[in-house]
Amino acid sequence: MLRPCLHMAKLTVKDLDLRGKRVFVRVDYNVPMEEKEGQMIINDATRIKETLPTLELLIEKGAKIILAAHLGRPKGTREPSLSLRPVAAKLADMIGRPVAFVDQCIGEKAEKTVGLLQPGDLLLLENVRYHAEEEANDPGFAAELAALADVYVNDAFGAAHRAHASTEGIARVIAARGGQCAAGLLMERELKFLGDELQNPAAPFVVILGGAKVSDKIKVIDRLLEKAQTILIGGAMAYTFKLALGLKVGKSLVEADKVDVAKAALAKAESKGVKFLLPTDNIIATPVKTDKLNKKGKPVIELRDERVNSAKDIPDEAEGVDIGPETIRTYSEVIASAKTVLWNGPMGIFEDPRFAEGTFGVARAVAKATAGTGAKSIIGGGDSVKALNKAGLGDQVTFMSTGGGASLEFLEGRELPGVAVLGDL
Ligand code: 3PG
Repeated sequence: MLRPCLHMAKLTVKDLDLRGKRVFVRVDYNVPMEEKEGQMIINDATRIKETLPTLELLIEKGAKIILAAHLGRPKGTREPSLSLRPVAAKLADMIGRPVAFVDQCIGEKAEKTVGLLQPGDLLLLENVRYHAEEEANDPGFAAELAALADVYVNDAFGAAHRAHASTEGIARVIAARGGQCAAGLLMERELKFLGDELQNPAAPFVVILGGAKVSDKIKVIDRLLEKAQTILIGGAMAYTFKLALGLKVGKSLVEADKVDVAKAALAKAESKGVKFLLPTDNIIATPVKTDKLNKKGKPVIELRDERVNSAKDIPDEAEGVDIGPETIRTYSEVIASAKTVLWNGPMGIFEDPRFAEGTFGVARAVAKATAGTGAKSIIGGGDSVKALNKAGLGDQVTFMSTGGGASLEFLEGRELPGVAVLGDL
């Protein structure tokens, strides 16, 4: 049995009276950055952009806005490249108003800066993971964070699977003293699309799953076998399923110890009458060890001699790297007939243009179904979002999640600690 929606009746930021109140807003600003000429540059600001509606509403409501986030995994050290300072500048640019920054997230300096805030002002605190107590969900640290605010808002769906001090502990402290804890607008949207919309999806419900590992997705597969009419499999995990069917996979990436898990999923699909499609052809390439060394000092492996393989077996010396043209056609036809589409995980190594066509072909089919028959298309975060954006189709689907691990855990039907702790309506 699937659990009913647990999040349906959560308090949201729309329900709160916030004039003049100090509002602690946990956001997921864990954005990809790289150093260029001594400066940290943000490569993809989607996660910042997606919080703007919440922030604009808070400004309109006259809240004093205290933003908190983590960046990377500094494990309790003040790693300078993981400072959130560049994010404050980027947010100021995007929202068109000043965003103050304080290089602490607790203590006197942070409290003083918060004390200077006027209604509608924005302040970003330094990376909460500069303190090991954040990930330990230390009650003392959570109380120090809570001392900064009257109200707690969680808009960090991407971090809601973590029971950390700024995602969980702080809400307990604020609630215990009678303060309100609510979901932000992004959190609300994520729960609506990945949760409510998939509770009773309009049929045909087509699920497209890719990525490297069966083990990462098996719980999602198991749960979706209860709901979907068709599941389309791509990515390296397809080769573990092929192994389960007794086929040869050459040098393809597989999880040999997960063959039983794959067999069980195939058997469940059959007993439920769910169409479970595996690629009928693949792009394959031959991995060749070169003289070049990678950053870790290991020989660079190049994938050479890429070609279409239409046989069921993959030759011994080759590796599957993408779905083939016939599979793209078949998958696109299935997608065209869908009323609801959920997609998580690329079909091949799309970062390499030679092996991107499978993922891009599926992306085009999903966008086409959304525009054509009005199918609801929901993209479950991570690499599939990257791929859609790379294909220039990011704005042509119904919803793209900002979560990675959080989306997967939520799709597995697990309760997210950062959501569970929020107040009920
Ligand atoms: C993410 O990028 O998926 C979230 O920000 C969570 O980050 P974490 O896996 O380091 O907790």
